[in-house]
Amino acid sequence: MGRELDTACELAAAAGAIVAEAFGQRKEVRLKSPVDLVTQTDREAQELILSGIAKAFPDHAIVAEEGAPSPRVAGPCWYVDPIDGTTNFVHDLPHCSVSIAFFDDGEPRAAAVYDPCKDEMFAAEKGAGATMNRSPIRVSSSLRLGESLLVTGFPYDRRDRVEFYLAYFKAFLLSARDLRRFGSAALDLCYVAASRFDGFWEWGLHPWDTAAGWLIVEEAGGRVSDFDGAPFDPWLPRVLATNGRIHEEILALLATLPADPESVSVRRGPFV
Ligand code: IPD
Repeated sequence: MGRELDTACELAAAAGAIVAEAFGQRKEVRLKSPVDLVTQTDREAQELILSGIAKAFPDHAIVAEEGAPSPRVAGPCWYVDPIDGTTNFVHDLPHCSVSIAFFDDGEPRAAAVYDPCKDEMFAAEKGAGATMNRSPIRVSSSLRLGESLLVTGFPYDRRDRVEFYLAYFKAFLLSARDLRRFGSAALDLCYVAASRFDGFWEWGLHPWDTAAGWLIVEEAGGRVSDFDGAPFDPWLPRVLATNGRIHEEILALLATLPADPESVSVRRGPFV
């Protein structure tokens, strides 16, 4: 195991311990938007990860969810989400993760996603395969969308674009075996890698949500792309990850759906 992967796994486990400790405790919640939450635990876990990376790799850049926005860099760079699934965490629903990825030359090289609730560490290194708790994992063997279980999520602008996102949900509901919404995109990707889901799509994610899971899916034999089949880029707002076998069938379905969020009429929820 390379030094970067070692560091990612160690820091994900240490931050996960902070998150696990805070489950069931009273949480101080701040609203980044009416549906986007952050807690003191997000900040503490992020601080631990950032100082660990800075100590081990003082010259590397870091892009992290909490704090000031950071630009894309071409050289060595870490993507950090201290709690992916903050809403689950705030509600003491035991499904969230710490997500850490190391990139160089714009390519993912090492990744760790740790679920402190189930003590599951997903990890991957470029060219060396993907693992869960050190055992190799592979994507599923489903050949058709109709026999596939898919997962998705709803972005933070969901109240403004509800009809648009529901058009996607409806199309998949009518074509797949079933759908789930679990609330941690990083784990959604790892579950595709571990064959628990056959595919995952979502709009509006950020690089810290998808960077680690991207490598883990690809190293488990899956495919990750944009909605038109173009190579995936974690800085773009669309991700489609599958076992590879159902990818083309899903791309064909996506091609029938509206591509521009502004094209579907806005209907805000009654509670806004
Ligand atoms: C969120 C989760 C969720 C997804 C949201 C993300 P956060 O990340 O990944 O599954 O649907 O779009 O923003 O904010 O809890 O780190």
